[in-house]
Amino acid sequence: DSGAADVAVVEDVRGKGLDDLAARLNVRHDPAAWSTPERIVAVAAGARALVVRNRAQVDAALLDALPALHVVARAGTGLDNIDLDAADQRGVVVVAPLGANALSVAEHTLGLALAVARRIVKLDVECRAGGWNRTPGLELSGRTWGVLGAGATARAVARVAAALGMAVIAYDPYVDAGDPELAQLGVRLAPLSEVMATADVISSHLPATDATRHLVDASLLAHVKPQALFVSVGRGEVVDEEALADALESGRLAGAGLDVREQEPPVPGRLEKLDNVVLTPHVAGITAQSQERIVGILAADIEAVLSGAPARHA
Ligand code: MLT
Repeated sequence: DSGAADVAVVEDVRGKGLDDLAARLNVRHDPAAWSTPERIVAVAAGARALVVRNRAQVDAALLDALPALHVVARAGTGLDNIDLDAADQRGVVVVAPLGANALSVAEHTLGLALAVARRIVKLDVECRAGGWNRTPGLELSGRTWGVLGAGATARAVARVAAALGMAVIAYDPYVDAGDPELAQLGVRLAPLSEVMATADVISSHLPATDATRHLVDASLLAHVKPQALFVSVGRGEVVDEEALADALESGRLAGAGLDVREQEPPVPGRLEKLDNVVLTPHVAGITAQSQERIVGILAADIEAVLSGAPARHA
């Protein structure tokens, strides 16, 4: 079509919510447009709503190039690709269904922990080659799960861990020690060093910020329990990957499951060579169910903002 779109979708974001919205508004979708600001502007010029996932960089320059924008909708949880201050200064509302993929992330986190504890990927490869190696794995029940972060995702992980009969401790400097939901979940807040040193499974759900960059470093990894497992979801920048590779190569950590990386996609290196590591390509939050839920919420919020009503997830 030749006219400007009302809603420009510049990453691979789909679902019934957007299909329904397209019946009422002009929605233009180019799933690859995120790659450069020029391509985003080409798709989104004149649009009042911009839909992104985590790859489009929504900074002040892009917002200035799209003066008709009223709303930026983030199909996911992390907001590190959006300059919130710049949006605020320009009166652009940012909507994000925070927590709408928490259950999917928690299930994937458990999947990675179990895959590492029971060496499922390695054994699968061996079995296909005719192997039958019945070396014992690690049982998780009755042990301690430490979550880095105590937001919606970490709480969903805590429920899963509790269902396995695990104790859960959490590090989150922004959560109040008297948080009633954590108390109800039986989660105890503890300092980072204590979580790292006492948990048998450690999973990171922290966002990428100046304060969290390389928070999981050599000094913390030097104090993990023998046989501890590490699972990285959330954002890869939180983990110093060289220090992690050292801890895995030396056997200090029994294994790791990594869904997120310092650089995405990563250049294959030391971690790719280790057979006590299970790797997935930043898919923890991405299931058919979570995407439908997210897109439904975003579409409703876009319509609300464009019609002058308050968004529920701004
Ligand atoms: C999120 O922040 O929601 C997840 O990391 C997935 C994504 O970036 O879309």
